[in-house]
Amino acid sequence: MNRPEQTRLLKEAHRHMPQGVAENYRYWGEDRTLFIKSAKGCELTDCDGKTYVDFRLGYGPIILGYRDDRVDQAVIRQITDIGTLSGFSTPLDIKVVQQVKALCPNIQKMRFANSGTEAVMGAVRTARGFTKRKHIAIVEGSFHGLYDEMMWKSDLESWDPHGSIQPSIIPFGAGIPDKTRDLVTLIRLNDFEVLDNLFRMKGDDLAAVLLEPIIGNAGSISATQEWLQHLRDVCSRNGAMLIIDEVKTGFRVAAGGAQHLYGIHADLTTYAKAMGNGYPVAAFGGRADVMDSVGSFKGGVVHGGTYTANLVALSAAAATLDILAHTDALKTIDATGEKISAILGRVFTAAGIEHCFAGPPAMIGIHFSKTVPQNYRDWRVTDSELYERFAWKLIEYGLMLEPDSREPWFICEAHASMDFGWLEDVATRALKEAKG
Ligand SMILES: Cc1ncc(COP(=O)(O)O)c(C=O)c1O
Repeated sequence: MNRPEQTRLLKEAHRHMPQGVAENYRYWGEDRTLFIKSAKGCELTDCDGKTYVDFRLGYGPIILGYRDDRVDQAVIRQITDIGTLSGFSTPLDIKVVQQVKALCPNIQKMRFANSGTEAVMGAVRTARGFTKRKHIAIVEGSFHGLYDEMMWKSDLESWDPHGSIQPSIIPFGAGIPDKTRDLVTLIRLNDFEVLDNLFRMKGDDLAAVLLEPIIGNAGSISATQEWLQHLRDVCSRNGAMLIIDEVKTGFRVAAGGAQHLYGIHADLTTYAKAMGNGYPVAAFGGRADVMDSVGSFKGGVVHGGTYTANLVALSAAAATLDILAHTDALKTIDATGEKISAILGRVFTAAGIEHCFAGPPAMIGIHFSKTVPQNYRDWRVTDSELYERFAWKLIEYGLMLEPDSREPWFICEAHASMDFGWLEDVATRALKEAKG
């Protein structure tokens, strides 16, 4: 590929940042690491002038479109008229919580954070503070941010899916102390027996089960209604908190998030991403009695931070939530996602590729397998290598996505006006080349 400016930038960046990037996941190799010049609607333009229709959307926060004027103007007004932060409360704090409560009946009280990671840390600490227990269970294939305790995973890369040995549990990388694993257990989505065993073995010290019911980090593989209801019931019976991590699903798969789709409420919920259409805002909240364990009184759960509820974040959230509550943006996104799935389904069928879709239309998981994976281990037996080759070809043709089938296709409102004929054409060509 002809990319002289990006090659020059990466060479220069190597002198200043590890791997030449600002965070690990942006390094796509010496020939593929992107430097973006601008973004608008559903499109990105790289520093060599190539434009992409983007389904990656910055790992999911863009729900309306890049540089949405309605949100950007609200932020500009806020920072020019009032300021960015003062370290004190503002009326906007209350307004945004009220907006969230109007969309999410699972929220009675809430606190803000700056990232999904911070929101999860706040929710987990609150669950432990409220229950006075220590243990946390998480689900294989999920991702809950970059803090040590949540950075343990099942090693599917070196696991034989046809053998009888369980995958080993490994840290995401170096620098994660073994001790941080002691209080975390990994369970399997949709497995009743594993869940019941968890409560049998750890029930007395289980502070919370934390999960994404629609796994935004494992191709939108989803909990069944029955399993999630069972989880809700056993948590309630055993006094453990159910924490639903809606960092990816919140204000995206429905205005009320995954909990609206299932009709099941968590005790605590985390939000980020779509809440601010790309501005860094996050939150955790839930039952008032549980959230009231947070506070500066003796024995209270500690929560705070210099940038918490800063006015850039809150004005973006206020504008985004107002649009999601009062326009057809999410309906448009669902209709667009359905159209895209139908087009891709036609392309896969014409090429004779076994395929299935997982998750809701706003966050489409695509798996090259006959049946929809029911958990992360099932994903391992999908043809993810073909998917990866297909994805790289799409990127060459100007369709941006994560070249890993564990990352869903994110749809934003601006995709409604994309060229769907072009999509069918490039998908057909990319798949033909990927098959070889
Ligand atoms: C479900 C989920 N929780 C938490 C996080 C962490 O969020 P952040 O990257 O904003 O720290 C992510 C990030 O992708 C996520 O997908």
